[in-house]
Amino acid sequence: MAVLTPDTPVPHAAARVIARDVHWIGALDPELRRFDLLLDSAHGTTYNAYCVRGSAGVSIVDTVKETFADEFFRRLESVADYDEIRAIVLNHLEPDHSGALPELRRRAPKARLYVSSRAQMMLKGVLHGTAGEFTAVQTGDHLDLGDRRLRFLQTPYLHWPDTQCTYLEGDALLFSGDIFGSHYCDARLFNDAVGSFRAAFEQYYACIMRPFAREVRQALALIEPLPLRLIAPAHGPILRDAPAYYLSRYRELSTPSPATGEHTLLVFYLSAYGNTRRMAEELARAAASDEVRVELIDLDGAAIAPLLERIERADAIACGSPTINGDAVKAVWDLLSSLTCIDVRGKIGAAFGSYGWSGEAVRMIEERLRGLKLRTPLPGVRARLTPGSDELAACRSLGHDLALHLCGRAEHRTIDMASLA
Ligand code: FEO
Repeated sequence: MAVLTPDTPVPHAAARVIARDVHWIGALDPELRRFDLLLDSAHGTTYNAYCVRGSAGVSIVDTVKETFADEFFRRLESVADYDEIRAIVLNHLEPDHSGALPELRRRAPKARLYVSSRAQMMLKGVLHGTAGEFTAVQTGDHLDLGDRRLRFLQTPYLHWPDTQCTYLEGDALLFSGDIFGSHYCDARLFNDAVGSFRAAFEQYYACIMRPFAREVRQALALIEPLPLRLIAPAHGPILRDAPAYYLSRYRELSTPSPATGEHTLLVFYLSAYGNTRRMAEELARAAASDEVRVELIDLDGAAIAPLLERIERADAIACGSPTINGDAVKAVWDLLSSLTCIDVRGKIGAAFGSYGWSGEAVRMIEERLRGLKLRTPLPGVRARLTPGSDELAACRSLGHDLALHLCGRAEHRTIDMASLA
């Protein structure tokens, strides 16, 4: 099987030189149209795996999805013998990168497996004993291949707890795992040779990395100081042209808007007969001040995607829903399920709503907010049918107290232990 130079057009089954003695040995999946059940992929994807040759042996970096293993092994065999493989580095355990590992272990018995320290707990669950012996590594640990050296950088939660990057010193080449990836399949492989993949790169960040913006910034703090000639991600084009651009784009996308000194509360509601809307209005009026900006948003017919930007910038959200058939209304669930795409951890959340006879919606919304790691320091407000003066006063009180929490002036609650008995 031929090994091609970087600028040769690529037949489907060839390994590809990406740097001196470093080959791409991954797989092309042009037919894929949906990834991980959540991300549309109009241009398919690639499962990138790499073979690094040093004077003391060969290391494989990542494998491919199991169904593409034949393609991976054909490419690998074109550039290395199994007996030469001393190391297998898995930057990430998700099956699209670990699928061919059990068979690779069988074929390359002299190889030692290197995974991140956090991957240890997950190995059994993902590979059920087929991974064999392994070494768990930390940031700064090295793997020597004789005349070249791989350095490990722990980049957890991008987008699993186990994720790490591996840096080939001297060559200034970063095997970045899912970070800087795109679901975009083009056999020409390199970013300056493939078609326009900007939309795929941006969509990949928005769907996979955006919920972990603070972890992206932590990873960038490790990566940005490194000399970098090439980024070799686990999906999509290899970034040899202007790799610094992709770092700066991740920096831009992960940096929060500058603080304005003003706090923002978004009050969402759905209301069939105006009862929950009335509650929302009372709450919003009571919360608004020079320090707290309040936006009242009717979810009926609203598009969710544009709301996510506003939620990401907001400090608190309150969700109002009537209870219909023992549940909150679908539009509220659509909103709440979309919050997994952004970072809402630590924001303040609250719930309210009117109901006819059972009134489960408020509790269900509060539980969901807590599940999303929002803080819910204040109990929600429920009103049976048309809210009366007491219930409207409770809504004003909720708005007022939310504002105090936002401004950091909430009184600490004293819990009477006797009341818990
Ligand atoms: Fe490409 Fe998270 O697997």
